[in-house]
Amino acid sequence: MGDKILDFVHTPAGKSLVAALGLSAPPQLRRAKSGFEAQPLAGKTVLVGSSRAGAQSEAVLAALEQAGAACRVASDLAGLAGVKESARVAGVDLTSSSIEVGEIDNAYVLDLSGMQSHKELRLLYDFFQPRLRRMAPNTRIVLIGLPAGAASDYAAATAQSALPGFVRSLAKECGKNGSTVNLLQVAPGAEATVDGALRFFLSSHSAFITGQVLPLAGAPEGYTAVPAEQSLKGKVAVVTGAARGIGAAIAQVLAREGATVIGVDRPAEEAALAETISALNGVVLPLDITDPSAPETLAHLVTQRFGGVDIIVHNAGITRDKMLRNMAPHLWDMVLDVNLGAIVRTNERLMQGAFKPNARIVCISSIGGIGGNAGQTNYAATKSAIIGYCNALSGVLAKQGMAINAIAPGFIETQMTAAIPVVNREVGRRLSTLSQGGLPVDIAEAVTFMASPLARGVNGATLRVCGQSFIGA
Ligand code: NAI
Repeated sequence: MGDKILDFVHTPAGKSLVAALGLSAPPQLRRAKSGFEAQPLAGKTVLVGSSRAGAQSEAVLAALEQAGAACRVASDLAGLAGVKESARVAGVDLTSSSIEVGEIDNAYVLDLSGMQSHKELRLLYDFFQPRLRRMAPNTRIVLIGLPAGAASDYAAATAQSALPGFVRSLAKECGKNGSTVNLLQVAPGAEATVDGALRFFLSSHSAFITGQVLPLAGAPEGYTAVPAEQSLKGKVAVVTGAARGIGAAIAQVLAREGATVIGVDRPAEEAALAETISALNGVVLPLDITDPSAPETLAHLVTQRFGGVDIIVHNAGITRDKMLRNMAPHLWDMVLDVNLGAIVRTNERLMQGAFKPNARIVCISSIGGIGGNAGQTNYAATKSAIIGYCNALSGVLAKQGMAINAIAPGFIETQMTAAIPVVNREVGRRLSTLSQGGLPVDIAEAVTFMASPLARGVNGATLRVCGQSFIGA
């Protein structure tokens, strides 16, 4: 397992070879070394721009300030009168008319949620163009816009529709040095939920996420923000497929944020499961999730021992690849049952009183479910269904103060992808903006974000964690 080419190009010899051949090496991604922090932007300067006055600009500046950032407002942009007013609230420096890239610590936020027409799209050019050449590696760029359908009229909606295309393109331009560009679509009235998403997308916890659009709505009633540090303390989290790979990393990162983890995996994997989960002081539950009695076994354990469950991560998944014309029926049935049927059955049982208030469900989908792959009709059908399932169930759960979201990994370095033929494996790794596969921890960080109060405005969404893979783009 592991990407030997990536390892090599970051050695002195590899760097010389890459330079001599005139090639560009995949960037070295800066990943988080510790957990979510109360003030992740402490001591950092963030450049903020906005199209006009608005509740979102105020919320953005307040959120950045609470996260410890010093904000510089790009007052060289047109139409910033309103920002000046809100900037005053956050106590930022308004005197500077042109801000040097060197003054900014790798973080840029542009709030365009107040755009009224396409004429304001020039702000995109004015904000970014002069600064891009000197932007540092691993810079984080976040744009704020409105969700589809939330604009006041067709002119505003047209302007908003420009943002996903812009973000995806800028992400492709900036990715060569490990920088990321993402768009948060904040619904009117949901401004109070922007802080958690900003913290995540401006941090090194989101190193493998770029070119993505995430809608934010209001938080469920009674679900308030808590300091990001150890925000899962006292929470009980179930992770399926936790013996190895992505599931083991998810268990570790949830535990890092304070959760008590119940790790589930097939009885045949009990030794590996025990090794992973015991190190986290968690609970080991050898269980085949397709067993008809599995939902009851799990519900019984969580209610008897913990009075219910706060978080469940449906990570266990399998591939049984074959062209459909050659696929035996049992391979179809097996993949459909592990990747979809078991998840639906388990949630149905837990929804009968085993979820604690404000519980959060995270399901693992795949970019294969978005783009499709020859030989993966069974797998892609399940991973695509997961996206629709999360979206369809979100409304029902929101009424009960709960949320469900999906994470769609791209190529991640695990045993599952180590089994892919070498040429396909190289294609899977390199055909992305960040030119490399992700690590299990990249998925674990995103899952933990979705499971935490940082994502309290997110429900029914699917977030791709794929380095902007061209598959399904
Ligand atoms: P993996 O094969 O390394 O680990 C999967 C785990 O699930 C194993 O420990 C396995 O024993 C467990 N499992 C399988 N069937 C089970 C069952 N019936 N009951 C209980 N546990 C069961 O896979 P990996 O790569 O860690 O993938 C995890 C998830 O991420 C899967 O849902 C997969 O489809 C998804 N994914 C992975 C990608 C990758 O590049 N590795 C890409 C896209 C999605």
